[in-house]
Amino acid sequence: MTSRAATRPHSRLRSSGGAVVGTVTRGTTNPNRLRRMDRWIAATHGRELRRAPDPVAVDLGYGAAPWTAVELLTRLRMTAPHARVVGIEIEPARVAAARPYERDGLTFRHGGFEVPVPQRPHLIRAANVLRQYDEAQVAAVWERLCARLAPADPETGSRGGLLVEGTCDEIGRRHVWVALGPEGPRTVTFATRLGSLERPSDLAERLPKALIHRNVPGEPVHAFLRDFDRAWAAAAPYASYGARQRWIRAVRELTADWPVTDGPARWRQGEVTLTWEALAPR
Ligand SMILES: C[S@@+](CC[C@H](N)C(=O)[O-])C[C@H]1O[C@@H](n2cnc3c(N)ncnc32)[C@H](O)[C@@H]1O
Repeated sequence: MTSRAATRPHSRLRSSGGAVVGTVTRGTTNPNRLRRMDRWIAATHGRELRRAPDPVAVDLGYGAAPWTAVELLTRLRMTAPHARVVGIEIEPARVAAARPYERDGLTFRHGGFEVPVPQRPHLIRAANVLRQYDEAQVAAVWERLCARLAPADPETGSRGGLLVEGTCDEIGRRHVWVALGPEGPRTVTFATRLGSLERPSDLAERLPKALIHRNVPGEPVHAFLRDFDRAWAAAAPYASYGARQRWIRAVRELTADWPVTDGPARWRQGEVTLTWEALAPR
């Protein structure tokens, strides 16, 4: 990419010609980069996908190569065999490059935050996309994407589609994402390869756009990471049983003061999930 527009989105959300909403940004991606997010989605949202008659998942902004979309299909199909994935990219050349990888259940399409698929998706995953936009744009993008999700259905108990929006490092060892339903933000998940972690606040550099500028004193996310580091330090004796045991101990400690929504089965994976309200910017 050559122009400034390719690396710096404009400060207002806009159509980049026709009805495509958003701006082309760097296409950096890597194979297996989003495995932690994929596995979490399959574990926590698999039931919704399984019971939908035609479960459609969107990999929004899959980047310069289609790996993350291919992998999302594979992982979703382990839990929801009828799931389909549509990869959507705002950069037309990246769509053309991805087309040879189309297969049963996987298609690629040019588009942006308008999410140009005929049905309302059961999942929209936007990884490392909003990071390159302005913080002030996040609320409008979330609102737009949430409005596209499959609606909740009180009759069946369905909570509706899920938007998973977050950020990770180049090889997916550190990840933080927000999960939103049609009604708005629900949770924040921290996920890491435990062997690579010196302290939990190492994850701060991968906070999603809505939180990364809020990691300052007085903001909940800053207090949370401070408490997490303290709990991690207090759990040091468990390190002799391995980083996993230390993480589990530290998260258990955190549950006294923070609304952690998951349990040891997820903590074992190097994850912890909290309610969005607990970390939302003040
Ligand atoms: C850093 S890459 C991320 C690739 C992949 N999701 C990953 O995490 O490895 C961001 C991609 O999002 C695309 N993008 C940015 N805004 C978009 C939008 N509004 N709609 C669709 N794609 C968008 C960019 O063109 C770029 O290819």
